[in-house]
Amino acid sequence: MKIANASLFACSALAFSLMVGCKAGGENQGLEYAPQMYHSVAYEPLTQIKDEAQGSWLSTREDGKGEFFNSNVYNPHGMNMREPVSNTVPRNKQGYLPHRLLQFELEKAALIPNPVTSSEEILKDGEKLYLQYCNACHGKGGEGDGKAGEVIGGVANLKGGAYVNLPEGHIFHVITKGKGRMGAHGSQIPAESRWKIVHYVKQVIQGQAAATVAESTAVATENPAK
Ligand code: HEC
Repeated sequence: MKIANASLFACSALAFSLMVGCKAGGENQGLEYAPQMYHSVAYEPLTQIKDEAQGSWLSTREDGKGEFFNSNVYNPHGMNMREPVSNTVPRNKQGYLPHRLLQFELEKAALIPNPVTSSEEILKDGEKLYLQYCNACHGKGGEGDGKAGEVIGGVANLKGGAYVNLPEGHIFHVITKGKGRMGAHGSQIPAESRWKIVHYVKQVIQGQAAATVAESTAVATENPAK
């Protein structure tokens, strides 16, 4: 019994000292299990390491080259990153082109059709977003009578005069980049949500039918942004 106790004590003391021995601290950098897993060598996007011996002291590469060797001979300009295909424009996850028009380019913006197909659900989302982001100034009914609008003054009445005929792309652009006394909301509201708000403004606040597919494609062919 005593021997069993003694050996148990010895084993746990050994295990304890082994575990403590692995701990890093001060000058001791500790012992790491499978360090390549924790410190994988990242590709440098703009450069390549062409020296085949670099990092050979810890290499686990099957081709026997150094751990840090990361050249891809097929890539131009000595970079690991590939350049985008020429004459192409990257789209985002929803398939939208980037909206790069400048603040004053409202006429070009007006030609962009709404890429979000309207539905009851979209209008519901639009309402929620409108109440969140526009209500404070433009008011629930869009008449420019929101609480913050009273302070700021000069808020557009979305139901009045020429505002009723604003094209959807124009409204999207104003939300994105701002106009006059209205600030830009592009960094706070994702593009898809901005288009949903446009549907809500056009159909519910201004009481107009959604643009038909034919109208949208007619506009799309003239769209300078594409
Ligand atoms: C901080 C207050 C404020 C908020 C929030 C705000 N607006 Fe405005 N908005 C204004 C003011 C002020 C104007 C008048 C701008 C001007 O012509 O000087 C305006 C103008 C507009 C116009 C007319 C643009 C034109 O061509 O003259 C539209 C459309 C519009 N807002 C839509 C929206 C929508 C949609 C939202 C919500 C995403 C929103 N606004 C949020 C204050 C605001």
